[in-house]
Amino acid sequence: MCGIVGYIGFRESQPILIEGLKKLEYRGYDSAGIAVHTERGLEVTKAVGRLVNLENRLTGEPLCGTIGIGHTRWATHGKPSDANSHPHTDNSLKFSVVHNGIIENYLELKEELMLAGHRFLSETDTEVISHLISVEYEGDIVKAVQKAVRKMRGAFALGVLTEHEPDRLVAVRYASPLIIGVGEGEKFIASDIPAILEYTRDIYILEDGEMAVLTREGVELLTVEGNPVAKDVFRVNWDLMTAEKGGYDHFMLKEIYEQPRAYRDTMRGRVSEDGRSVVLPELSITAEQLRAVSRVHIVACGTAMHAGMVGKTVIEQLARIPVEVDVASEYRYRSPIITKDTLVIVVSQSGETADTLAALREAKRCGARVLAITNVVGSSVAREADDVIITLAGPEIAVASTKAYSTMLIAFFLLGLYMAQTLGTQEEAEIARVLAAMDSLPEQVESILGQAETVKGIAESIAKSSSLFFIGRGIDYAVALEGSLKLKEISYIHSEAYAAGELKHGTLALIEDGVPVIALLTQEDLFEKTVSNIKEVKARGAEVLGLVNEGHEEASAKTVDRQFAIPRTLPLLTPALSVIPLQLLSYYASLALGHDVDKPRNLAKSVTVE
Ligand code: F6R
Repeated sequence: MCGIVGYIGFRESQPILIEGLKKLEYRGYDSAGIAVHTERGLEVTKAVGRLVNLENRLTGEPLCGTIGIGHTRWATHGKPSDANSHPHTDNSLKFSVVHNGIIENYLELKEELMLAGHRFLSETDTEVISHLISVEYEGDIVKAVQKAVRKMRGAFALGVLTEHEPDRLVAVRYASPLIIGVGEGEKFIASDIPAILEYTRDIYILEDGEMAVLTREGVELLTVEGNPVAKDVFRVNWDLMTAEKGGYDHFMLKEIYEQPRAYRDTMRGRVSEDGRSVVLPELSITAEQLRAVSRVHIVACGTAMHAGMVGKTVIEQLARIPVEVDVASEYRYRSPIITKDTLVIVVSQSGETADTLAALREAKRCGARVLAITNVVGSSVAREADDVIITLAGPEIAVASTKAYSTMLIAFFLLGLYMAQTLGTQEEAEIARVLAAMDSLPEQVESILGQAETVKGIAESIAKSSSLFFIGRGIDYAVALEGSLKLKEISYIHSEAYAAGELKHGTLALIEDGVPVIALLTQEDLFEKTVSNIKEVKARGAEVLGLVNEGHEEASAKTVDRQFAIPRTLPLLTPALSVIPLQLLSYYASLALGHDVDKPRNLAKSVTVE
């Protein structure tokens, strides 16, 4: 998703903007640009593609000046191109804007502006904003931005610069994240903290409908209506090092290896000292409110939705409450039955996914209580939900989610147990048994990671295939979906996940000689059934890799061609282990094919458009 950086201070702005944008690369982008107030006036340089293209362009002709804005764009309106890159300017070249989000009524506004003689150079919605501001400008950029914003509908975060006022930088937040960094004699704007952490740890987090006017000396916070806003500076206590690769070749590999730590952190403080119950002091939902819950809706996108599918089984089995799982982009439009006794659980690593956020708001509008599982403190989802469970995965930089997904599973285990103990649906001894098994998960993950070389060998042979299948039953099917998505997104190999028993209803036609099938067999009560489905694909020439529990290899050896064993845990907890070899498989397949593992094509880390 797009990234914004802005600077006003005493140093050259260009290197600060470029370095800041580099820190936001993880969000995904396809072009970049900066605008700086130089001695010649407002100057803009942009380039499609990676930031290095922009840097190359700036090498010969640097933009010198101590106030500027920068942007990395992920195309939504108009293809990735130099012209469509931000910053955008008006026809007089006196106003420059960077923008994240979407202006829903931009076509209407553009038509009006064109009738009034404005010429547009790009296909973007953003360009409309710079023109609108120029129209509204009467000597005060803050007022002009306020008036322009009133005409705009949609979700946006803005950074605005004008040649007329070289000592002011304006920022606006409307449903798209934006923070303000406060330094001595210098101020920053950014769409995410890492962009400015090198310079300051003191930030203001803007809320929807708020704006900030930055000068070298201070920051004025106000609403877009012009009313003053008072808020405390938030001190960031995490360190940029945690966001660096730490010796691994890629962020994804580092993040896969961080999972034992992430599991421990996510469980820490959430299990009673005697290990017999779950403690979630962050939840404000009372036992009485929980008892009144008659159904649960889990709503999320992509990988987070796959975690939600595991969450469904966990909650239904432990707490015996019916659960539905929805893709967030579908949820609002299917008129879901949301009542006051519905608990809506939204799951989002970034906490900024537009569809998930919209589902959250719809659920609240219908009177449901919303519980969020997210990895980002202070994210929109975290702020708007009634209750939040933070997964302590730490910043996830690789676009493909690994530790954020697996810690969502840990959060679901904790939540399911918490619900069960509150509702009395499980004996205390059973809760203690699950917690004891959870306690062993980090070590068990370590032992799987110790076999990464074996997975690498399998991945290298799989990388030669043009298509493959993941199959599983029950909770294994949910993990199969995640394994398949992971492979697709970073290796670009076509793959599909199927409930093992469903293959024979059509898709079996695609199984032919040599097609790899990865069969998850961790649910031993379903073993015989899945073995029958494996026989169906074997009969059509498939090469089957079985993912089995340690100690069960002998039983499956007769059916599969190769197998990989994961340490034994309780059936309900297996996803937290079985997903690890699948993550490694995707990583090594992508590597073998020479792809950019951390920044796969056509993907964004945080998807803030619907
Ligand atoms: C895949 C991936 C995406 C996200 C999805 C939702 O690896 O990361 O499928 O899971 O875009 O993102 P969040 O969890 O930030 O809401």
